Amino acid sequence: MSIRTEAELEALKRIGRIVADCLKHMGSRLEPGITTRELDDLGRDYLASHGARSAPELVYDFPGATCISVNHEVAHGIPGDKRVQAGDLVNIDVSAEQDGFFADTGGSFIVPPESQVKTRLCKATRRALEAAMRQATAGAPLNRIGKTIESEARAGGYTVIRNLGSHGVGRALHEEPKFIAGFYDPKDKRTLRDGMVITIEPFLSTGASYVEDTGDGWTLATASRYLSAQYEHTLVITKGQPIILTQPSS
Ligand code: CO
Ligand code: CO
Repeated sequence: MSIRTEAELEALKRIGRIVADCLKHMGSRLEPGITTRELDDLGRDYLASHGARSAPELVYDFPGATCISVNHEVAHGIPGDKRVQAGDLVNIDVSAEQDGFFADTGGSFIVPPESQVKTRLCKATRRALEAAMRQATAGAPLNRIGKTIESEARAGGYTVIRNLGSHGVGRALHEEPKFIAGFYDPKDKRTLRDGMVITIEPFLSTGASYVEDTGDGWTLATASRYLSAQYEHTLVITKGQPIILTQPSS
């Protein structure tokens, strides 16, 4: 969507804050032994108690309130009986709706002990998100986002997952502009516009370039020898720096 009124911006800020705080809450409860379903239940309760509905459930009938992807799983992991282990790299993606407005956020967490491989990957992916957000201004070509993510990935010695991307959001979980690549696509002639609401969500990997279905109908993963990380914000494009809607409250 493109924001036209202050009321729309305020509604998006409300749901943005809720998903960000939900992600933070879930991340704080990650510890060895917790199952991904127990973690998801914490997210479901958080959303419900703040008057929000899980977007993946609402829109796609996803079997969980949030997506939880562990180690070589990259996205859309189904919460279940899997127990989190020390040293796991866990991605939690939270998207939700309130009053017809949607926000989407996500992040990767390392369950201690951290290893250098995982810490470096997460830092590089955060850097890619921050660099791409700095480049996301009204009037700029949309493909500047992917160009920035790709160059940050390369600088760190990482690959980009090419079949997962950022997207428009706001009145739906996924809307125009659809599929914003995480790599430079010179054929993409779209432009960022003032008021446009999009996510930016780089997926960096220690070597994989594509995710594949795992057979459960949802989970997308790479070969098990690779690790990937993702960080995601929902933001509003302006003539200056974007407004980040998915900032936790403290
Ligand atoms: Co997301
Ligand atoms: Co998203």
